Amino acid sequence: MTAGIPSSPVDTSKPHPARVYDWLLGGKDNYPVDQEVAEKLPAEARANAARNRAFMHRASAWLARQGVDQFLDIGTGIPTAPNLHQIVQAVTPRARVVYADNDPIVLRHAEALLVSSPEGATDYIHADVRQPEEILERAAGLLDFTRPVALSLIALMHFLPDDQDPYGITRGLVGALPSGSHLVLSHGTADQHPELRQETESAYRKGAIALRMRTRAEVEPFFEGLELVGPGLVTAPEWYQEEPAPVYERSGFYVGVARVP
Ligand SMILES: C[S@@+](CC[C@H](N)C(=O)[O-])C[C@H]1O[C@@H](n2cnc3c(N)ncnc32)[C@H](O)[C@@H]1O
Repeated sequence: MTAGIPSSPVDTSKPHPARVYDWLLGGKDNYPVDQEVAEKLPAEARANAARNRAFMHRASAWLARQGVDQFLDIGTGIPTAPNLHQIVQAVTPRARVVYADNDPIVLRHAEALLVSSPEGATDYIHADVRQPEEILERAAGLLDFTRPVALSLIALMHFLPDDQDPYGITRGLVGALPSGSHLVLSHGTADQHPELRQETESAYRKGAIALRMRTRAEVEPFFEGLELVGPGLVTAPEWYQEEPAPVYERSGFYVGVARVP
């Protein structure tokens, strides 16, 4: 809900994850401070960002084809077409999508996320995932939490260090969803690029951004109590359903889609 939210100024003196990611995807909504971080990242970072985004496309379209028509996407990022609502409304025009992000630059570009199909609806919440109750309460303005919802936490939780309780926050969000809902999660990892861990973490650290890449064993608990569907917990290019396999390459993301029993 953008109306009435005071737009905090965009701070161009320090890098922000949304703008670094925008640079990696070839976008223009970033500043020299963001570029400085992005350029210090290993060359693979751009391909990894594109593969993560492609996973979001495949998983969201697949869920829409299964009949899911309500989506809550937290850590949305700067709009990059196609956005989630464009993907799912191409399958189900009446689909409803609520986006949430804590970055003022995403709020500034929120209009692009609010152009819905006439039959469906989209909304945007300027909020922090560390205040999950606020997001759930405001999302209930558009979503019916007595019916299945797909919750996307895509390339978000690695920005929460362990002491900020990423697992507890995820459990709390998932706990608010009825049976038949899904969690769609992707998470940065260095398991397939161990030699790039230091370079990646140090590029973000120099920009004062905490990045906590996690191993497979550390990503698994995000899905505790849920039923992984399709190929399970795999790297981004390995997650596909009912479509030709994407080209297999090493990836910096673990991904999974899981059903709430
Ligand atoms: C790497 S981008 C991912 C964008 C999109 N989900 C995707 O995968 O294409 C991470 C996003 O998470 C947002 N973010 C980071 N920490 C957050 C927090 N504590 N609460 C809400 N959003 C957050 C950033 O502002 C950024 O837009």
